[in-house]
Amino acid sequence: MPEPAHDPIPLASPPPKPNLPGEVLVREGVDDLIDALAADLYFQARACVRTFGDFHLALSGGSTPEPLYRRLMYDPRLREFPWKKTHLWQVDERCVGEGDDRRNWKMIAGLLLDHSDIPRDQVHPMPVLEPDGDERYERELRTVLEWRERGHDRLDYVLLGMGGDLHTASLFPGSVALEARAGRLVVFNDGPGVVPPRRMTLTYEMLNASRFLCVLVTGEGKREAIGRLVGGGLERSEAPVTGVRPLGGVLRWYLDRGACPVSGS
Ligand code: 6PG
Repeated sequence: MPEPAHDPIPLASPPPKPNLPGEVLVREGVDDLIDALAADLYFQARACVRTFGDFHLALSGGSTPEPLYRRLMYDPRLREFPWKKTHLWQVDERCVGEGDDRRNWKMIAGLLLDHSDIPRDQVHPMPVLEPDGDERYERELRTVLEWRERGHDRLDYVLLGMGGDLHTASLFPGSVALEARAGRLVVFNDGPGVVPPRRMTLTYEMLNASRFLCVLVTGEGKREAIGRLVGGGLERSEAPVTGVRPLGGVLRWYLDRGACPVSGS
């Protein structure tokens, strides 16, 4: 007896692509998305090492990038990642003690440092407990990047996340760090608007000078926030992520279907 005919497997409709500034890459699920992001990061890292001899990578905390950091360590396709030539920087940090679970560096170091061969003098945790830690980090950035030819003295790849309140890095709506004065690359951020504890963060000036800025946003919990961005008309002070506008570099959003508003735009 022939098997009863089945309906053909329906063609999946492609995930909708929200209309956001810059490039937008949407994948069905987090795994596919991490695949695409990791491939882009790998490509950038190798290209920068070929061109400049090193690669400057700044990473965010939060929970969204954890699967990416794990993937970077175990995926055999990424085995040739040039960790030995990579400088690891932080996008932002919470001003809490080293062992505190809220510390971004604890997560980053636990997932990446312990399993890669990055030379220890190329890792740059933010000195958040030093009273002048912001100025020290700024100096460290300037000093290390100074080795690059002028014009290339910038971060090569910055991984950002986004909160439901549209903050990115530790640039919170209505907070003082949004108005950091020209020339400041790193500042503390505190006061009304900042979700405690106090933070240290790269400024717009530092972020927007980067070669490649990636904003990774996943899950339905962020869908409404993406919808607000798509709606447009938001001031930077209420939606800090809209202040991320690279001067000459690339801005690319990485979204899973869950984070995308149903109609796309
Ligand atoms: C942090 C960040 C922050 C983060 C967003 C998203 O330290 O909190 O760097 O900007 O990327 O808050 O956080 P989730 O990934 O946890 O949603």
